[in-house]
Amino acid sequence: MDPPHIYVERTLAIIKPDAIHKSEEIEDIILRSGFAILQKRRVHLTPEQASDFYSEHYGKLFFASLVAYMSSGPIIALVIARDQAISYWKELIGPTNTNKARQTHPDCLRAIYGTDDQRNALHGSESFMSSEREIRFFFPDSIIEPVPVGQASKD
Ligand code: TYD
Repeated sequence: MDPPHIYVERTLAIIKPDAIHKSEEIEDIILRSGFAILQKRRVHLTPEQASDFYSEHYGKLFFASLVAYMSSGPIIALVIARDQAISYWKELIGPTNTNKARQTHPDCLRAIYGTDDQRNALHGSESFMSSEREIRFFFPDSIIEPVPVGQASKD
């Protein structure tokens, strides 16, 4: 009988500057929520790097303050993995706006660790394509090599 297939997905999580002092507690929640932490990096983005990371929001009213906030102090970028990691992590962190999150999803991580409608403590990738781009942004060497056909069963 074939062994069961286990599907594991990875996504990018960021602990933002306003929540960095709670990073150990947040990483503990990540692990207890069934994720493995595959990679981790503490980094202080320059305004140019923060603009690049959030380039899809270029031109929006909040862009300048978002860039200033994301480059205001160190952040922690994490590659985390489990089944349905992208959607599960988004659900766990909750709605974008911390103030609304406190009303509608009081148990979500942004409601607990966020500060206001911009400084919302955590980031999660939106989709498979954005997760791959965002993982490469922080971990350029993080390439998953496909296993050539016929080799998978030899290990
Ligand atoms: P977005 O990708 O819309 O939200 P999310 O982080 O939930 O995927 O926005 C990116 C970040 O931009 C968001 O986390 C906080 C900031 N932001 C603002 O400061 N003001 C806003 O009105 C929005 C929509 C986002």
